[in-house]
Amino acid sequence: MRRRLVAGNWKMHGSRAVNLALLTSLKRSIAQVGGLDVAVCAPYPYLEQVAESLRGSSISWGAQDLSEHDAGAYTGEVSGSMLAEFGCTYVLVGHSERRVLHGETDSQVAAKFVAAQRAGLVPVLCAGETLEQRDGGEMQGVLLRQIDAVLKMAGVAAFKRAVLAYEPVWAIGTGRTASPVQAQEVHRHLRSLVAAQDAEVAEGLTIVYGGSVKPGNAKEIFSMPDVDGGLIGGASLVAGDFAAICSAAAEVQ
Ligand code: 13P
Repeated sequence: MRRRLVAGNWKMHGSRAVNLALLTSLKRSIAQVGGLDVAVCAPYPYLEQVAESLRGSSISWGAQDLSEHDAGAYTGEVSGSMLAEFGCTYVLVGHSERRVLHGETDSQVAAKFVAAQRAGLVPVLCAGETLEQRDGGEMQGVLLRQIDAVLKMAGVAAFKRAVLAYEPVWAIGTGRTASPVQAQEVHRHLRSLVAAQDAEVAEGLTIVYGGSVKPGNAKEIFSMPDVDGGLIGGASLVAGDFAAICSAAAEVQ
């Protein structure tokens, strides 16, 4: 049985007061559920607050990015070992907003994936196509390039300690979600790319879906056989919605 994960990506949202209210509410509403991991990925300045607040709870936490370097003259960057010192579990790697807005390349994303594991963190590797690429028939090629860069640099065995997130760019923050069937098709395809190198690793790999997941559509999407949970943006900022999405994931196990 694959582990399921529901991770909240707060993106650049929050304040100490807002975080406190959100975390307090999440701790109250999300009880430990067998086989389901729950995590929140907060902006860097709040990681210590999040770590403190979640200590002793069943919710883990992650960061939204890391440097591919371990230390050095890289102003503004944060290394995996710095995150690990605070008890970080997960780190997003190659989110489409990093790829698009910050020009992160496939090979840089792969280097970040390797750096995360070097520091003992679990990378959540994000992959996904734009609408233009989907409509132009380029989706499979784009996904292959994104995954292959990491497979080549890290090796397939590295996927035993990683999570894959399928996030179609056209579904992020748009209210337009992939249909459960569309999500399933791509998740199965992503799993097959890993299976081509190691079937056992592919079978055990947690692949989560992200893109306008809400309480109203979560259960349907999570019911698909290759969808092992979600990466939640907007709805993770509303405690009740995030808790409802976690419940939906727990119900379909
Ligand atoms: P939304 O859930 O707001 O569409 O964001 C998805 C996302 O980018 C999570 O990383």
